[in-house]
Amino acid sequence: MAEKRQNRIPRHVAIIMDGNGRWAKKRLLPRGAGHRAGLERMIALSEHAFDCGVEYLTLYALSAENLSRPEDELQGLFRLFREYFTENAEKLKAKGIRLNVIGDLSLLPEDLVGIIRRGVESTAGGGRGALTLALAYGGRQEIVAACNEAVRRGKEVTAEEFERLLWTGEIPPLDFLIRTGREVRLSNFLLWQAAYAEFYFTDTLFPDFSDGEFDEALRSFAARERRFGKV
Ligand code: IPE
Ligand code: IPE
Ligand code: MG
Repeated sequence: MAEKRQNRIPRHVAIIMDGNGRWAKKRLLPRGAGHRAGLERMIALSEHAFDCGVEYLTLYALSAENLSRPEDELQGLFRLFREYFTENAEKLKAKGIRLNVIGDLSLLPEDLVGIIRRGVESTAGGGRGALTLALAYGGRQEIVAACNEAVRRGKEVTAEEFERLLWTGEIPPLDFLIRTGREVRLSNFLLWQAAYAEFYFTDTLFPDFSDGEFDEALRSFAARERRFGKV
């Protein structure tokens, strides 16, 4: 029988954090100010999401395609990520949250990758939840990497085995995908994983996406009936 209406909290939530640039533009500020406001919102919202009972939170912070943005915007983003991993690993560790990163890290500056690795290692023991940042991430690239790994292993794979070769291989299925910032598209995020996720799109620009609106999204999720193709 199909899984009925559930007053449950989604176990794995992902957010496409879009709209930082437009948030800044509205205020006549440089795009970098929007990214800083977005990062601050991301830190507070992550804490709120885990307090709500979400166990896995996956955040789209930088796509592989975003790497063709102007150099000064990218350098500003890398600076924010360095700061994030340096200043937040300890706090997350204290809360029992593991940090994780998915994406093609070879596309990022080497020193940033070192900082990321230290953050991931230092929080590895956390048992309360996992916060995964998608950086230099692309869903198609992830699928191609998994295909190549399967070919290297020289044996046909089932869908379940293939799933474990994805960068999200250790993370449970995606339940709920939120996108802020008005666009109604996936922009190459979690293409495989979104197969049976519930979607929530909002016009709110990410720096304005409040804890209260996140709660509203959770209520929307709870009111849905997931059938997974069954009746
Ligand atoms: C999302 O905000 C953050 C990144 C892609 C790094 P944008 O920078 O895409 O903001 P908009 O879409 O231009 O408003
Ligand atoms: C998606 O937003 C990537 C992130 C939020 C990190 P974009 O702003 O890059 O998406 P498009 O270009 O509008 O599709
Ligand atoms: Mg955008």
